[in-house]
Amino acid sequence: MAATKNVYDEVYDRSLRDPNAFWAQAAEDVYWDRRWDKVLDDSRPPFYRWFTGGLLNTCYNAVDIHVDRGRGKQKALIYDSPVTNTIRTYTYVELRDEVARFAGTLVRQGITKGDRVILYMPMVPEAVIAMLACARIGAIHSVVFGGFAANELAKRIDDAQPTLVLTASCGIEVTRVIPYKPLLDHAIELAAHKVSRCLVLQRPMARASMVAGRDVDWNEANAGSTPAECVPVAATDPLYILYTSGTTGIPKGVVHDNGGHAVALKWSMKNIYGVGAGEVYWAASDIGWVVGHSYIVYAPLLAGCTTILYEGKPVGTPDPGAFWRVVSQHGVVALFTAPTAFRAIKKEDPEGVHMKKYDLSSFRTLFLAGERCDPDTLLWAREKLGVPVVDHWWQTETGWPIAANCVGLGMLPVKPGSPTKPVAGYDLRILTEDNQELPAGQIGSIAIKLPLPPACLPTLWNNDEGYEKSYLTRHPGHYLTGDAGYRDDDGYVYIMSRVDDIINVAGHRLSTGAMEEVLAGHPDVAECAVVGVADELKGEVPVGFVVTKAGVSRSEAEIARELVDRVRDRIGPVASFKTATVVKRLPKTRSGKILRGTMKKIAEAAPYTTPATIDDPAILDEITESLKAIGYPKAKKG
Ligand code: COA
Ligand code: AMP
Repeated sequence: MAATKNVYDEVYDRSLRDPNAFWAQAAEDVYWDRRWDKVLDDSRPPFYRWFTGGLLNTCYNAVDIHVDRGRGKQKALIYDSPVTNTIRTYTYVELRDEVARFAGTLVRQGITKGDRVILYMPMVPEAVIAMLACARIGAIHSVVFGGFAANELAKRIDDAQPTLVLTASCGIEVTRVIPYKPLLDHAIELAAHKVSRCLVLQRPMARASMVAGRDVDWNEANAGSTPAECVPVAATDPLYILYTSGTTGIPKGVVHDNGGHAVALKWSMKNIYGVGAGEVYWAASDIGWVVGHSYIVYAPLLAGCTTILYEGKPVGTPDPGAFWRVVSQHGVVALFTAPTAFRAIKKEDPEGVHMKKYDLSSFRTLFLAGERCDPDTLLWAREKLGVPVVDHWWQTETGWPIAANCVGLGMLPVKPGSPTKPVAGYDLRILTEDNQELPAGQIGSIAIKLPLPPACLPTLWNNDEGYEKSYLTRHPGHYLTGDAGYRDDDGYVYIMSRVDDIINVAGHRLSTGAMEEVLAGHPDVAECAVVGVADELKGEVPVGFVVTKAGVSRSEAEIARELVDRVRDRIGPVASFKTATVVKRLPKTRSGKILRGTMKKIAEAAPYTTPATIDDPAILDEITESLKAIGYPKAKKG
C-alpha cells in the first residue's frame, strides 16, 4: 500500500477546522427518519450535542436497512461458542426477524421508549438480539458484565432503575458453569429499586430457579410475539448506559446517544478499521464492555459486515489456536482484542505453532486496545502473523478510538508503544496541572478540547453535575481522559499511566479505590491500600495492604484469605484480587497521604527514591519484607 500519510492529515485537519461540515458529510451514510436541524449544537456549553432535531433508529440502521438494500441473505451474526460446541449463524433477514420479535416481547412486557432494560448475560446471541430490540423500540439498555458480583449489579440496578432485567441461567468460563441467576436474585434483594420482571434464558448446562410472579421464561415470553417496528428516536436520545469504574465504589453511568453514535461508529469501520460491507469482522471482547457494544454489536452491523460473537477464551477453549481456528473458519479480515489475550496466547504458544495450522489468508489486520500495548507483545504478534498490528486507545466514555493508526486512511508508520495519532474529531492536548500545553516529549494529563466528537458521552445517566465534576472541571474547556502521556516530535501519542486510581487488569478497568472501600469494611481492618502491580499476563493485578485494628490477634493468613473472598464477593471475580497482606503500618507523607506509588515500585522491583515528605522511611523496609513474604517482586521470566 502506498504511504498516504497526507490523507490522514487532510481528514484530521478538516475534522477540526469545520466539524459541522465534516460530520454532516459522515451523517449522509446513515438513514434518518428526519434530518437534523443542527450538526453540532453548542447552545449549552459545556454540554454539546450532535444532530439535534434529527430522528433515526439505530436498530434500523444496523439491521433492517441491509435487508431493504439487498443484503438480507448475507450472514449478519455468527455465534461461535467452543464452550458449548455450537456455531449458529443469522443472516440479516433472520436477525431482523428475531430482533423484531423480541422487540415485540419487550412491548408486551410494557417496555416503552426511554425505559431502562438491564442485561446480565453471557455471550449468547439472545443478548445481542435483546440489545438491538431495545434500540428498535427506543428503550435504553444497560449491559452488566457477567464477572461482576451481585453487589455491583445492585448498584447498577439502583442507578438505572430498570423496568425489566434480562438474564440467563448461566455463563461458561472455559469448563466451569457459572450460575448467573443466584447473583441476580441476590442483587435484586440488595437493591433499593424493586425489579418487577425478569426474563430468564434457561441454558441446558444449568437451570435457574424462578421467582413466581417476577421471573418469566425467555422462550415462553417470546413465543407468539408480534414483531415490533422500529421507533424513530431523537438523535440525542440515549441508546445505552454502560457503567464503568470511577474513582470510588460508585460506578459511573456513561451514556451514549443514538445519532452521533451511529454516525461516528459507521465512519470508524471504514476509516479506522478499513473494513467494508460483506466482510467478516471480529471483536474478541465481551458485550459487557464498551468494545463489545461498539465493535461486536453496533459498528460492524451498521457497516453491513458479518460480526462474530465468540463465547470462549484465547487459550483453553480448547488451546492457544482458538483465535486462528475462528479466523480461518469464518474468513475474518480484522480482529480486535486486548493485548492480554495475546500475552496469554504467546505464553502457551511462543513459537506460534498453533497459528501455522490454519489458513489465515483472509486476515488483514490485528487491532489491540483496552490497556497499554507493550512493544514485545505487538512485535511478537506482528512477526508471527505477518500482518499489521494496530494499537489504538479509547475508553468507555468515548465509545470509539481517540487515537489510532487509521488503516482506512492509509497506515502511518507504526511506532511500537504508541497508538499513533488522534482520530478525526479529537483535539488532543497534553496539559500541566494549571492547563498549560506541554511541548513534545513531556508527560502531562491528556485532555480533549471540547466539544468531544460524536458518539462520545454527552453526560452521565441522570447526573449532569457528576459529568462536569468528573471530566470537565480539572481542565476548563477540556475533557479529562484520566490518562497521562505525551506526544513525540512526529505528533504520535504515548499513553503512559492513569492520573487517578484506575488500574487495568486483563484489559478490564477497575478502581483500586472501590477495592479499598471493600477492604475497609472488614471488621478487623483499621486502614488499607490497594495498588496495581505489573503482571506478565494481565498487565496489572491488584495487591492489598491492610493494617489491622489494635487488639486483633487472629491469624494474618486467615484475614488475608477473608479479604480476598470479600473482594470477590463484593466486586466480583473480574477484579482478580488474589493477594492481600497484613502490614504493621502504611507508608505515608507527613500530611497523611498514603504512598501507593512507592509501594507499587517496591512490589515491581522498580527503582524509587524515598519521598522527602515521608513520615517514617523505616516503613518502606517493613513493606519490602511483607511483600517478600507473599512472593513480590515476582521474578521476570526469560
Ligand atoms: N462471567 C463470570 N466470570 C467471569 C467472566 C464472566 N463473563 N469473565 C471473567 N470471569 C472470571 C474468570 O473466570 C476469572 O475467575 P477466576 O478468578 O475464578 O479464575 C476472573 O473472572 C478473572 O477473569 P480474567 O481476568 O478474564 O482472567 P482469566 O484468567 O479467566 O483469563 C485472559 C485471562 C487473558 C485469557 C482473559 O482475561 C482474556 O481473554 N482477556 C481478553 C480481555 C478482553 O477481551 N478485554 C476486553 C477489552 S478489549
Ligand atoms: P475502558 O473504559 O474500560 O475501555 O478503559 C479505558 C482505559 O484503558 C483508558 O483510559 C486507558 O487507561 C486504558 N487503555 C485503553 N486502550 C489503551 C491503549 N491502547 N493504550 C494504553 N492504555 C489504554
